[in-house]
Amino acid sequence: MRRFAVVGHRAMSKGKLPLNDLASAGGRMDVLIRALMAGLMTSHGLRENTVVVLHLLGGPGPPRRIKFDGATLKGLHADERSIAGTIGKVIATPLPPIGHWQPITAGITHSGGDLELTLREWNDATTVILDANTPRLWNESASLPLRSQPNSDTLNFVLSDDQPLESINAENVSKRSLGEHWLQGHMAVGIVHFLLDEGVDLNL
Ligand SMILES: C[S@@+](CC[C@H](N)C(=O)[O-])C[C@H]1O[C@@H](n2cnc3c(N)ncnc32)[C@H](O)[C@@H]1O
Repeated sequence: MRRFAVVGHRAMSKGKLPLNDLASAGGRMDVLIRALMAGLMTSHGLRENTVVVLHLLGGPGPPRRIKFDGATLKGLHADERSIAGTIGKVIATPLPPIGHWQPITAGITHSGGDLELTLREWNDATTVILDANTPRLWNESASLPLRSQPNSDTLNFVLSDDQPLESINAENVSKRSLGEHWLQGHMAVGIVHFLLDEGVDLNL
C-alpha cells in the first residue's frame, strides 16, 4: 500500500471552488489536483494499491481532508477540471467531525482534521517526508541492476504544495530526498511510484 498525504496550505476547504481560478483564488488547488492524478493514475488506469489524502488548510474555517482510495475509486478522469468539479462538490458539503470519514462517492471520503491526525491514522507504517535537502530515498550504495520485485510494503509519503512544510509531530518519520533539485509535487509523486514499481532498495 502506498499512501500520499498532500498538504495544501492555502487550498480552499469550504465554499464555492472557483473552477476558472484554481491556482489563485482556489489556493493552489491545481497543485493538489496534479499530485492526486500522479498518485492514483497510470496511463489507462488507477493504482489500486494507492491512497491519496488532500489536506485543505486554506479555510474558510477548519481544515478538511479528502481521501481518494484507488482500491474502490470509480469515475475519476484524467482531467484537471473534472477533478476540480469533484473537489468543489466535496467542499460545498458540511465538514464532518474530525476523524470521521464520511463517504461522498465510491472511493472518496472526507473528514475534518489535519496532517498530524492523518499520520496518527497511518501509524502502522513508516512515514517519509519528501524534502530535497535530506538524504536520498534510495540506497545509494545499491549495485546495478537495481530492478527487483515491486516494493509492496505499506509506506506513507508526505509532500507539500508550493510552501515549505512546518515541522511534523509524529512517530516513525524520516525525511528523504529525490534529488537535490526541488521539483513540482506531482513529479515527486511520480518518482516515488517509479522507485517502488522498480523495487529499488530504499534507504529508510
Ligand atoms: C514544489 S515542491 C515545494 C517547494 C517548497 N518551496 C518547499 O520548500 O517545500 C512540492 C513538494 O514536492 C516534494 N519535492 C519536490 N522536490 C523534491 C525533491 N527533490 N526531493 C524530495 N521531495 C521533493 C516536497 O515534498 C515538496 O514539498
